[in-house]
Amino acid sequence: MENTAYDFGLVGLGVMGRNFILNVADHDYKAFGYDLDPEKVSALIEEGGDKARVNASGDISVFVNALSLPRKIMLLVPAGKIVDSVIESLLPYLSPDDIIIDGGNSFFTDTDRREAYLQSKGIHFFGAGVSGGAEGARKGPSIMPGGSREAYKEVQPIFEAVAAKFNNEPCVAYMGPKSAGNYVKMVHNGIEYGLMQLTSEFYDLLQKGGQLNNNELHKVYTEWNKGDLQSFLVEISAKIFEKKDDLGQGQLVDKILDKAKQKGTGKWTSQNAMDIGIPIPTIDIAVSMREISALKQERVLASKKYDRGTMELEKKQILIKKAEKAMFFAFIITYAQGMHQLRAASSEYGYELRLASIARIWRAGCIIRAALLEDIAQVFEKDKDLANLLLAPLFVEKIKDSVGAARELVTYAAENGIPMPGLFNSLSYFDAYTSERLPLNLIQAQRDYFGSHTYERTDRAGIFHTDWS
Ligand code: 6PG
Repeated sequence: MENTAYDFGLVGLGVMGRNFILNVADHDYKAFGYDLDPEKVSALIEEGGDKARVNASGDISVFVNALSLPRKIMLLVPAGKIVDSVIESLLPYLSPDDIIIDGGNSFFTDTDRREAYLQSKGIHFFGAGVSGGAEGARKGPSIMPGGSREAYKEVQPIFEAVAAKFNNEPCVAYMGPKSAGNYVKMVHNGIEYGLMQLTSEFYDLLQKGGQLNNNELHKVYTEWNKGDLQSFLVEISAKIFEKKDDLGQGQLVDKILDKAKQKGTGKWTSQNAMDIGIPIPTIDIAVSMREISALKQERVLASKKYDRGTMELEKKQILIKKAEKAMFFAFIITYAQGMHQLRAASSEYGYELRLASIARIWRAGCIIRAALLEDIAQVFEKDKDLANLLLAPLFVEKIKDSVGAARELVTYAAENGIPMPGLFNSLSYFDAYTSERLPLNLIQAQRDYFGSHTYERTDRAGIFHTDWS
């Protein structure tokens, strides 16, 4: 007998999918899951406890027929070709106006292609960025949906119920048409890369320059998490420093190989920023650092060829104080670059993004949640056309208060050979962005010299070329 009682369908019962569907069921929506792996199907049924509330099947027709119309089917499967093949397998069973939501980290142009394809078949499709990892999926993620506004209205109550809450406000909002949701999530991940790089290079600084051990690092990051730097990534770093190693002596963090992997969203952020002409050097270098980290063997070889000399140690308390300010400075710069990219992408791709709303839904649930987002939301609320965070009076004050520490630590790190490229790039970006005149007039002259590329002048209008020889 056909059962059409379920409100929400979910394809892909891996860790994220299973947690998300259980979250939906916790909010009084009946949910049905689908996965080809029978073990995942039975694991969900068992964990759900009541089949009338959470059910699952490995048979796609059973799955689709169990859902009420218009069907709301979310995919939580790895980005790439799998999304296309899942869509193809669903299509024969769907009815007009059914909605497919891609909750994975799909590349935004793939989302545009899929939306156009499904529109021709009468099916709504939208990409929704979901952040917060497994715990977020279970207890409340931050959700960034984009696509057809009409279709969004159908899933809005479910998303608002399952999303993380900040002061009772759900961390979900309609981002804009087409692939706006995936784009915003991509930039979220770029910012995530920047903040992760910064939290790790300040850990290096405190270890090398102040000889802090893991217990001290735990205390420092715990304290930082009570002040300006309050954020999920600082909070979990504090916890990581104190985690004991189950397989040996000491803390686990010391045994973890220093090669960071990546699935591509940070790289996409950088690549697309280049495409649309927006500088995001803190995020770029965070991607490059993962690449440098992967060159472990070469790094080991090179380290033997270049002696750094003796480290000039700093007094712990002084170093910790400066580091807190300098990291805050670089956090602001990272968000400023990400928001700048979102603003430019909004006009480039017609996303109609509201930056204040994006900052608001990032205040809880997602990986880059931080106290700073409250201020970011506020300044974009006040001035929705703000070109860059660095121009907002509130941030001018914060930067003035922290840039001195950033300069001192850049000098110290350079003198002692401590790699802090996230901080260095943040400072250089700041210095360049706030320079009335840059030396790029020389670049224009060189271009005209060797390639007759022409230049503009500061004292009269028009396009000029000079015979330099
Ligand atoms: C999130 C995360 C998540 C991402 C991981 C891994 O918001 O929950 O951004 O979507 O997949 O952070 O990313 P990398 O493997 O590229 O580090």
